[in-house]
Amino acid sequence: MINVGIIGCGGISPSHINIYSGFPEEVQIVAVCDIVKERAENRKQIVRDTYLNRAKEYQKRTEEATSQEEKDKYAELDQICQNAAEVEVKVYTSHDELVKDERVNAVNICTPPFAHPAPMIAAANAGKHVFCEGPIAGDLKQADAMIAAARSNNIKFTVQYGTRINRGSMMAKKAIDDGKLGKILMGKVDVMWYRGQSYYDSGAWRGTWAGERGGATFHHGRYAIDLYLWLMGEVSEVYAQMDTFTHKIEVEDCSMSVLRFKHGALGQITASTSAHPGIAPSQQIEIFGEKAAISVIPNWNIGSSDENYAEQLKQELEDDVKEPPYNAMVGQMKDFIDAIVEDREPYITGESVRPQVEVTRGIYKSVATGQPAKMPLKPYDPFYGD
Ligand SMILES: NC(=O)c1ccc[n+]([C@@H]2O[C@H](COP(=O)([O-])OP(=O)(O)OC[C@H]3O[C@@H](n4cnc5c(N)ncnc54)[C@H](O)[C@@H]3O)[C@@H](O)[C@H]2O)c1
Repeated sequence: MINVGIIGCGGISPSHINIYSGFPEEVQIVAVCDIVKERAENRKQIVRDTYLNRAKEYQKRTEEATSQEEKDKYAELDQICQNAAEVEVKVYTSHDELVKDERVNAVNICTPPFAHPAPMIAAANAGKHVFCEGPIAGDLKQADAMIAAARSNNIKFTVQYGTRINRGSMMAKKAIDDGKLGKILMGKVDVMWYRGQSYYDSGAWRGTWAGERGGATFHHGRYAIDLYLWLMGEVSEVYAQMDTFTHKIEVEDCSMSVLRFKHGALGQITASTSAHPGIAPSQQIEIFGEKAAISVIPNWNIGSSDENYAEQLKQELEDDVKEPPYNAMVGQMKDFIDAIVEDREPYITGESVRPQVEVTRGIYKSVATGQPAKMPLKPYDPFYGD
């Protein structure tokens, strides 16, 4: 059994609790922590309620089951969830205290971006596995310290980028890595979101450089930009413009960037939280190669001037890449559990999420200097650290 502690008991934490409660044979939540004690107390109650709700679901399934085998399976899960609801959940107000809890084997970090590194490194040094909310950290200095802490303590470390755990994303990755699109020429990602001022006013850390560590590009754009960079490869240079048009915030609410990848392809990143909805998908990735083009989100598809090739490639990918058993964040949390049990790397490693931070820091550097920013950002570069 993996015993988990949740650090940070705000908006996203109930999703983590709910997902873990779906794997009650493998995971038990045993501790919660927030610097605001009432929030941690509230999540302790939510842990209990969530297990009891799961138990009710299994009772219903037991009643509706059509075979004895199913009845026995659901009755057992009902009992496991009822037992899980009775397990003591300890409340902490300091992550340093939670990571000392000997019952805890793994932690989920659900604090704001500026507060990811300290609990992550403390947990790693205490030998606990870490599932961290994204983005990994606000700069490369912190991200590299977290990656190093995971490696030196030999713990499993993953950062929430569930967008990669999706059949379309996986088919795109395979097509590109196997060279099926031919040489990659261009790729673009659009993150066109709309957020009112009330969103930014809902938390003191939101919209600030110190708290959110970036705006539409770094924070809101991170899922699509991470997926895009995972597919496209290493960036060698970026030139960007950005502005804050519609919100009273420090960070940008609109940015446009032009990239050159190491393999020669051109790229484009557009990110906004001022984009009124209704005319285009809120997130979109399209990649164009010499032989074929692929769209990844919102819908997976392959196109080519050679229609037979497109059809054949589509069929090949559908045959080779099966629907993952669990998608998105559920899939990633299940993979984290399996990585611990099987003592293997998680599907998404700390190292693999680093480019999202590096390229966004490069975008901010280019805006600050008015010049293209070269990658990689070296440790002596002011944009590597804070
Ligand atoms: N809310 C969402 O829908 C959502 C979705 C996806 C990802 N995320 C990510 O999850 C993370 C948290 O977001 P949120 O919306 O839950 O934020 P939030 O502000 O609602 O909650 C964060 C909580 O962390 C606590 N906290 C801060 N520092 C702490 C520390 N050192 N130790 C313990 N607790 C501490 C705060 O008191 C607060 O209760 C962010 O990285 C965010 O990007 C949130």
